[in-house]
Amino acid sequence: MSWIREGELSLLERLSANILKAGPMPKHVAFIMDGNRRYAQKKHVERQEGHTQGFDKLAETLRWCLNLDIHEVTVYAFSIENFKRSKEEVDGLMELAKEKFLRLLDEQENLEKHGVCIRVLGDLTLLPIDLQRVIAKAVMATRSHNKCFLNVCFAYTSRHEIANAVKEMAWGVEQGLIKSGDVSEALLNQCLYTSSSPNPDLLIRTSGEVRLSDFLLWQTSHSCLVFQSVLWPEYSFWNLCEAILQYQQNYRSLQKAQDIHREGQKVQQLEADRSHVSDLLQHRGNGKPMDARARQTALINYAENREERVQRFLGALQHKRDTFFEHLTSPTAVA
Ligand code: FPP
Ligand code: MG
Repeated sequence: MSWIREGELSLLERLSANILKAGPMPKHVAFIMDGNRRYAQKKHVERQEGHTQGFDKLAETLRWCLNLDIHEVTVYAFSIENFKRSKEEVDGLMELAKEKFLRLLDEQENLEKHGVCIRVLGDLTLLPIDLQRVIAKAVMATRSHNKCFLNVCFAYTSRHEIANAVKEMAWGVEQGLIKSGDVSEALLNQCLYTSSSPNPDLLIRTSGEVRLSDFLLWQTSHSCLVFQSVLWPEYSFWNLCEAILQYQQNYRSLQKAQDIHREGQKVQQLEADRSHVSDLLQHRGNGKPMDARARQTALINYAENREERVQRFLGALQHKRDTFFEHLTSPTAVA
């Protein structure tokens, strides 16, 4: 099964999709694809077969999303917690991933046709080196595509991602790229693995479990969360429509919450800049009062300098990440 299942929607599905599309549509949907093993048990098949069918369902879901003009999808494919499962199951999941990423390299034409960019988000160093290398090749092969985005969270948990972002900022301070006062909610956001994506509008978890299990905790604070009882391999186009309907029913309150948060962030940044400028002026001006205009100019200069430092730091961070992938794909990389 390839990454995007070919095929058109049925007439009834097309009709329903068009009705849905008359309302506000989520642009970015995240999935916790849960229930593969219960499905395997229910169907009396091997556990690994449940995961394989889980992948096939992902490919089908991606096609539905494209048909619904949803151009960004993020999936929880392997949590760091999943390493605690039996060796046999973990090895099986690693093999499945390797097979699918190798397959992806074979079907580049199809991905190019749809303009699909595949990103893998997580701590790749936790994975076997052969899988790291295949993933890096797949990511590099599709990174210039920009019509739709599939973010595969693999060896991922949200807490690990946030802790990593904090470490990256500490590294930036250590290297003298940023100042400790530049650390902010907005900067942390830009240090996450998900920094290239807008936050998901809708997060769907299947199998009846009603928790986030350390998935996108930071990114979904203002997203619509939908919990559905269907097991992931049995997910249907109609289940997806139902989740989107819930999103549409809650659209106004979600927008309002996002607007309030965005405004709050701007105010936070302005207050932080003001406080830093006050400190600076107090030191430099020997406590002499400064007129409002000079204060305003100092504030603008401070904000511009901060932004320059931040951009330089983010550039260095990107370079570090690119080098990691380039090293893995170079023919001389240690296997
Ligand atoms: C959760 O069901 C599913 C997983 C831990 C694995 C998800 C992986 C896939 C669907 C394959 C994706 C692969 C790639 C390469 C993208 P579960 O195992 O927790 O089942 P249960 O809840 O019934 O126990
Ligand atoms: Mg589960």
